[in-house]
Amino acid sequence: AANLRIALAGLGTVGTGVIRLLADNGALIASRAGRGIDIVAVSARDRQRDRGIDLAPYAWEDDMTALAARDDVDVVVELVGGSDGPALALARSTLGAGKSLVTANKAMIAHHGLELARLAEDHAARLRYEAAVAGGIPIVKGLGEGAAANRIERIYGILNGTCNYILSEMEDTGRDFAEVLSEAQALGYAEADPTFDVEGVDAAHKLAILASLGFGTRLDFDGVEIDGISRIRAADIAQAGALGYVIRLIGLADCELAGGGGRHLFQRVAPYLVPVSHPLAGVDGPTNAVVAEGNFVGRLLFEGAGAGDGPTASAVVADLVDIARGSAAPAFSLPVEALEASAPVDPGHR
Ligand code: NDP
Ligand code: HSE
Repeated sequence: AANLRIALAGLGTVGTGVIRLLADNGALIASRAGRGIDIVAVSARDRQRDRGIDLAPYAWEDDMTALAARDDVDVVVELVGGSDGPALALARSTLGAGKSLVTANKAMIAHHGLELARLAEDHAARLRYEAAVAGGIPIVKGLGEGAAANRIERIYGILNGTCNYILSEMEDTGRDFAEVLSEAQALGYAEADPTFDVEGVDAAHKLAILASLGFGTRLDFDGVEIDGISRIRAADIAQAGALGYVIRLIGLADCELAGGGGRHLFQRVAPYLVPVSHPLAGVDGPTNAVVAEGNFVGRLLFEGAGAGDGPTASAVVADLVDIARGSAAPAFSLPVEALEASAPVDPGHR
């Protein structure tokens, strides 16, 4: 088969990671995908910026939406970020043109995922976003495909690498919140606006996506109750430790049948006290871990790097392999019509 021709929008931490991964593992990926994956064109804000990568082999577009209109591009990879603005415009024009979209943008998927999935279905294109949830962990495929035979009732875990890095560094070294946050930013873990990380919004984006995938319910980001970690002090961590706990930012989603065939959906992101004997207590640094409970498989635990260039690029390129192989799986484990027609969901109150 002809090689898959891709365009990259966004050449920051993740975008440059994708270029490096495709260069280093190109032959291996081609053998697994059944065809090669070629970068044809790229776009970012500043053409002059030194990214430590030779961009000469690729066409440059100043206007990233032009990537979607190029005849020599099959798939656009959006690695810009932001729930609206240029990323959303690019996503709409890509799918509207019948081209597939791969994105790491959890904010955009949490807010506009169903609209984009519908666009993809209407134009026989694919929408893939493995990197949007828990970095390198294949949790979207794990829940959407691997656990597809199960009724999932509960999903919880550590969904933000920056917060986990901050909490575990403060715990291990007693260092100050602001100092460790700056380090997480320098390491490429944090969002462009790190308040999304420390206020729990990024974890809430991911939780809403996981809930929809796992429970077969409509995306409901507005239904997530959110508390972040910005008010946690070193003294809180020390006190928790003295009592036999660590503090972790946890996202938890729970779905149960309610009267009238509807369902209660409970979604919460908050700092929780985790007993030191619990598997989540040992999850340190930018690592994420997700537990999903299925009615036949039992308890699944997914753990791995939740942020950073290499792990995130790994998830992005796995989506490209999926598309190169011709996978027709729906974006949200159910076709959009079935998701929208699913029994009404009420916010759970406990
Ligand atoms: P960066 O800030 O490192 O890179 C963003 C890129 O987008 C830059 O190349 C920037 O251009 C470009 N860009 C930003 N705004 C515009 C604009 N208005 N017009 C054109 N180009 C623009 O972000 P990351 O690589 O860290 O993140 C990218 C996406 O991946 C986000 O959605 C993020 O949430 C997600 N993600 C990130 C992870 C991580 O660990 N970093 C993990 C999982 C997901 P320029 O370089 O010229 O400024
Ligand atoms: N800022 C995010 C985090 C990146 O720290 O988890 C990965 O989604």
